[in-house]
Amino acid sequence: MNDAYSNLDGSSVLVTGGTGFIGSHLIEALLMRDCRVHCLTRKSSNLKWLPTEKITLHETDLVNPKLPDSCLDELAHVFHCGGLTSARTRGEYFAVNAKACRSLFDLLTPHAHHLKSVVHLSSLAAIGPSLNPPEPVDDDTPCHPVTHYGKSKLAGEKIALEYCGKLPMVVIRPPVVYGEREQNFFTYLQKLKQGWRIQVGRDPRHLSIVNVHDLVKAMLTVAQSPKQENPVYLVTDGEIYSWDDVSRIASAILKVTPKTLVLPETLIRLAALASQLKGALLNRPAFLDRQRVKDIRQLAWTASSQKFFDTFDFQPDYPLERGLKKTLDWYKDQGWL
Ligand SMILES: NC(=O)c1ccc[n+]([C@@H]2O[C@H](COP(=O)([O-])OP(=O)(O)OC[C@H]3O[C@@H](n4cnc5c(N)ncnc54)[C@H](OP(=O)(O)O)[C@@H]3O)[C@@H](O)[C@H]2O)c1
Repeated sequence: MNDAYSNLDGSSVLVTGGTGFIGSHLIEALLMRDCRVHCLTRKSSNLKWLPTEKITLHETDLVNPKLPDSCLDELAHVFHCGGLTSARTRGEYFAVNAKACRSLFDLLTPHAHHLKSVVHLSSLAAIGPSLNPPEPVDDDTPCHPVTHYGKSKLAGEKIALEYCGKLPMVVIRPPVVYGEREQNFFTYLQKLKQGWRIQVGRDPRHLSIVNVHDLVKAMLTVAQSPKQENPVYLVTDGEIYSWDDVSRIASAILKVTPKTLVLPETLIRLAALASQLKGALLNRPAFLDRQRVKDIRQLAWTASSQKFFDTFDFQPDYPLERGLKKTLDWYKDQGWL
């Protein structure tokens, strides 16, 4: 057991979004620390990544969350990872990423006296893209989100910060998160494996990124000492990459020499229209929509984690090469690649 997390060991923890990509990895890490894990689920949730026999499931929607006193009375830590990363409308994003936060925090407030931390997972999207590409934004950059998603995450952050005086709140802002089980960044890696390096437009594009295991470690780290002034932290792996770097490193691991396929923005906009139409017909969020296009066309989604690294004793374990190797090995083992 790592003493760095002694505050967590054996404690009772609530995870929202535990069925999702990040939440399911977090639950694994919490179980390693012998935590009693309470996980919020829905009727429609896919439980395939959850060791259901080792945790307590509570079926309730975040929009109007209800939890039994037996759970609320024993909680020491809360990790709020539930959120919508794709939705059909602005209203859907705001209902879950913003409004539901208030419902959850109101539910927790009467239990503040025994809560040691409430970790709220926001996003780099709440700040917005680089203002001067590829210069990174930092936690002092004025927020200028460009999508419904980013705006809803910013609204959620603001709600979280309103509760700072009542709850031991910490807000984490990750950039793109990658790792085992993830399905969006995976599409890019899958195309590489198939021999195609997809490039949007001719201009170089840059990004910050973090491996899911480092993000989980960062969440456990902040849960140790949540009561900081202005507790909002960008958490990246500390580097800035071009998409060329990503494809070069991944191609070397995959042992492929991909051809570059440049997609002009006009083509992406057309594809988004088609995908949005399909989504509307099937009554589900489109894989690519106009919001996603706003996101893709930015030249740099880069961020500095300096404040986080200066505040906490934290070293990422997964520089991109190591993280991609672990991730690609997992995709291969699972037969995804
Ligand atoms: N992945 C990234 O690259 C990234 C980057 C920055 C920030 N984030 C943030 O990290 C968080 C987790 O992201 P993720 O990638 O793990 O997403 P994910 O895999 O899509 O998981 C989302 C989770 O939220 C739950 N959820 C959504 N709507 C809900 C509702 N109305 N009631 C209860 N639960 C609900 C989902 O439950 P169901 O299983 O029931 O659908 C699922 O467990 C999100 O807040 C996201 O904004 C993610």
